[in-house]
Order: sequence, then structure tokens, then C-alpha cells
Amino acid sequence: MKWMWMVALVALVGCKSENKAPASAEAGAPGAPAAQKKLSVGFSQVGAESAWRTAETQSIRGEAEKRGVDLKFADAQGKQAQQIQALTSFIAQKVDAIVLAPVVETGWDVVLSQAKQANIPVILVDRGIKVTDDSLYTTLIASDFVEEGRMAAEWLAKQTNGKANVYELQGTTGAAPAIDRKKGFEEVLAKYPELKIVKSQSADFTRAKGKEVMEAFIKSDGKQIQAVYAHNDDMALGAIQALEEAGMKPGEGVTVISVDGVKGAFEAMVAGKLNATVECNPLMGPLVFDTITKVRSGEKVEKFIKNTDRLFEKTNAAQVIGSREY
Ligand code: AHR
Repeated sequence: MKWMWMVALVALVGCKSENKAPASAEAGAPGAPAAQKKLSVGFSQVGAESAWRTAETQSIRGEAEKRGVDLKFADAQGKQAQQIQALTSFIAQKVDAIVLAPVVETGWDVVLSQAKQANIPVILVDRGIKVTDDSLYTTLIASDFVEEGRMAAEWLAKQTNGKANVYELQGTTGAAPAIDRKKGFEEVLAKYPELKIVKSQSADFTRAKGKEVMEAFIKSDGKQIQAVYAHNDDMALGAIQALEEAGMKPGEGVTVISVDGVKGAFEAMVAGKLNATVECNPLMGPLVFDTITKVRSGEKVEKFIKNTDRLFEKTNAAQVIGSREY
């Protein structure tokens, strides 16, 4: 009966177990010697809303395959409820560790308490959370989103001599990168009274919504738009398309800056349509599994393992594009 329930739960959340070991060596297989057991890891991913996220998924899946890890992958399609179901399923399957890229910051206390009770370490990747008790997760491997927002604003202030009407495309409402990239950006803007955010709206980190929101900005404000700050490259690329379709000149008449540093952004910079992007490294597969290994062997890890990011401009994009990995 208990097994039937578990099977149904796994099917419900659509978890796909990858890199299956031969039955005799599978984790939890009756009589399997401990030395033969594969490490089993549940990975709950936000979705596939951006090129950045696809790169992150590939990095974690690829590294799992290289190391022979039994990775149970669940795509939440942008829904926190699906992530909670996936985590519940991972706990029921008694995985060795959980990797969570949380769609939003809040609402994790209950399911993470269950993981803690089951003694399953939870590694947060790319986005942080707000919980009442920090011991509910082991570590966060991510970029400093507030710093990314600051870098974007400092660059824009320099580029515009501290004076421009800025239109902001925010990421998913309630997500750490949307909250923090806005916070860091506004913190710097406070020093430049003539560099102002005129309108700011969520475009959910997607290219389609970036275009849609930008079209609405153009319709209402037209030529007043002097700069666009997008919380990710996909939204900036959508906005660039909207600006071009309206006969405006992104990269020249309108300064466009975003975050991520994906290949598409470099192509847009080489074409002169995107002015700059702040890198946010998604290639965390190796670090994620190194960290899991350390945690399982009892080694202490930092609570925040920070990626270092750089800013790229259209002036140096052509030299760098060939070496970009995502
Ligand atoms: O959490 C990282 C952000 O999420 C990336 O900037 C964005 O592209 C993604 O969807």
C-alpha cells in the first residue's frame, strides 16, 4: 500500500530519474552493498523560462551524469506548489540530498522542516529563500543579486552622466533575483536624482513578456524612454524587439542593460542593440556535487557560496563571444 502511494506521488510530480544504475546497485535496492549504491539526488528546478535556466539545468544534469549520480529531476513550470510536491516526493524516496532552485523566496518552512526531520541536506541553487530557521537548508550556491543590481546601475549612471528616464522590466514577482536586482539598482540610483525609474513592471523573466511589457511602455511613453533595465537577458531581448518594431534604436537612442550574460545577449551586443549585461554564472553543476560530497562526509561548508560575476559591454563583446560557454 505504502509503495503504491509512493509510485503515484512520483508520477504526479513528473520526477524523472536519470542515469539509472543496474537494479542490483540502485540506492535502496534490497541487499545492495553500501559501496555499490549510487548517490541519489532530487533536483527541483523552477522551469525553463530563460536561456540562463536551461544552461543551469544542463550543467547540473551533465555533471550528475559524469559522476554517475542518480538524479531525479522535476521541472516545476514556474509553480511553487509543484516544487513542494517534488520535494515531498524526494523525501518519500529517501534521496541522499535535495537540490532546490526556489521559484520564490517565501513559503518553504513546512516542506524543508520535513526534509530536515528526514536528515536530508538541502542545497539551494541560484536563488535564496526567507525561512524562520536557517538550519532548514545547508547552503546557498548563487550570485549576489543585490550586487548585480548595483553593478548595472553604476554602469548606467556612468553611461548617461547620471541622467535618464529608466524603464525597468522586473523578474518573477516574489523571486529573489527580482527583489534583489531591484534593490541594488535603486540603492545606487538614490545617488543620482536625475536617473529615475519612470515605470517598472514584472515580465516574469521571459522574452515574450519582456516584449509585451515594453510594447505597453512604448505605447504610453514613447520617446520619453531613454534607458531600459531588464532583470534578465531574455526580457531585454524581447524589449529590444519591441523597440525596433516601434522604429526606435535600442543600443543607441535607448540604452539597454540586463543581467545574465547568455549567448543571445552577446549576439545582441555584437549587433549593437544591447549595451551591457552583468554576468550571472549558471554553470554550477561541478560546485553543487562537490558541495554535496563535502556535506555527506561531514565537512563544514559556507552558508553562502558566492559566484563572482563580471560586466560585459558591447564594446568588448566581439572579443569575448567565442569563449562564452552558455
Ligand atoms: O535566478 C536566476 C534568474 O532566473 C536568471 O537571471 C534568470 O534568467 C532566471 O530565469
